Formats: sequence, C-alpha cells, structure tokens
Amino acid sequence: MLEVLNHPLISHKLTQMRNKETGTKDFRENLDEIAELMAYEVCRDLPTRPIKVETPMGPCTCRTLSREVVIVPILRAGIGLLDGIRRLVPTAKVGFVGLYRDEETLQPKEYFAKFPEGLDEAVVMIVDPMLATGGSAVAAIDTVKKRGAKTIKLVCLVGVPEGIKTVQEAHPDVDIYLAAEDEGLNENGFIVPGLGDAGDRIFGTK
Ligand code: PRP
Repeated sequence: MLEVLNHPLISHKLTQMRNKETGTKDFRENLDEIAELMAYEVCRDLPTRPIKVETPMGPCTCRTLSREVVIVPILRAGIGLLDGIRRLVPTAKVGFVGLYRDEETLQPKEYFAKFPEGLDEAVVMIVDPMLATGGSAVAAIDTVKKRGAKTIKLVCLVGVPEGIKTVQEAHPDVDIYLAAEDEGLNENGFIVPGLGDAGDRIFGTK
C-alpha cells in the first residue's frame, strides 16, 4: 500500500523545506510539524481494545491503543521526524538503525542498530525524510524483520518511483506513507526536485 498524504498544511510546510533559502532552524521546525501531521494519518488504522473507565458521570467502556508502537528513525536524518510522531504517540518506544549511503556505489552500510524488546508484537514505523533508491529503507526493513517485526510502516517525506518500486518489490507487506512523490533521481542518486540532503540541512553540516 502506498499513500501520498496530500494535505494543504503538509504541502505548504514542504514547500518551505524545498526552498534552498530556508535555513536550518526553519527546515527542522517544518519537518517536525509535518511529522506530527503525518503521524495522525499513519496511525489511522492502529488497533484499539475496549477498556472500562469511570467518568465523573459513571462507568464507560471506551477504547485504548492495543498494540505497542515502535518508531525507528534511520540515522541521521530520520531523527528529524521522531519528536513530531512522539508528540502524538507518547507511549511509543524508539529503536535506531544507522545507515549511510556509500557515495560511489549508493549501497547502504549499517553502522548502528539498537531496538527495544517486542518488535514482533509492535507496529513498527521506520522513518526517514528521503526515499531515494530505496536501498536504505529496504536495509532498515530487513534489519527489523530479522528481529521479528511483522507489522511495518515506512514513513518518508519525499519519495520517487524508483525507491517506491524497490521497497514494494522487496517488502510488499510494508505500507509506505509519503508527503510527496517526486519526479526521480539525478545521476548522483539525489531526489529531484527534492529538498537537497535532508541530513545536512537538519544538522547544519553543509
Ligand atoms: C539519506 C537519507 C536516506 C537515504 C536515502 O541518508 O536520509 O537515509 O539517504 O537514500 P536511498 O533511498 O538511496 O538509500 P544519507 O546516506 O545522506 O545519511 P544521513 O541521514 O546521515 O545524512
């Protein structure tokens, strides 16, 4: 399943992120706000179970989330989406996978992995602003599946057809959520028109 979350507020904030004149502070704040808006939609199908509470007026059977959520940012840039999602799902646990793309081969290299217990029972959200060749997303999904994850959502800001296809072919069971689908990749594997190198723009490293 691929869902592109066309929402005026998301589009507006993404436009500010795309603008090369936008500095680190505004880039980060817009990403954080988009993450929160995306989380609302991404969580739409989270399962709930009945629970009894006492309201000031008496007993009430209502609903509460029935499965744990684990957010897994792909380091570094995925960290930019973490706080926005956690504001909506404050009980979520967090795992990390560190990947970088070898600049010549564009192949992802894993340099860090740390996860909470119980991935097999949880809804696992892998988050990263960019879905370019799809190599990093596929590697991150491989990593969480190896540790038992069964229900996986991939949440990215901007994706391209190449990356979407790669993920869908490797992991057809994973739902993909994007704020926008862009045209494609340039010869260096960067998304066009995209928004540049998200990691560098979030952390001010270029
Ligand atoms: C970027 C981005 C994704 C990856 C996407 O990370 O944040 O993780 O590339 O590319 P792919 O779909 O072709 O794998 P980068 O390697 O620049 O690392 P960084 O997050 O540390 O900046």
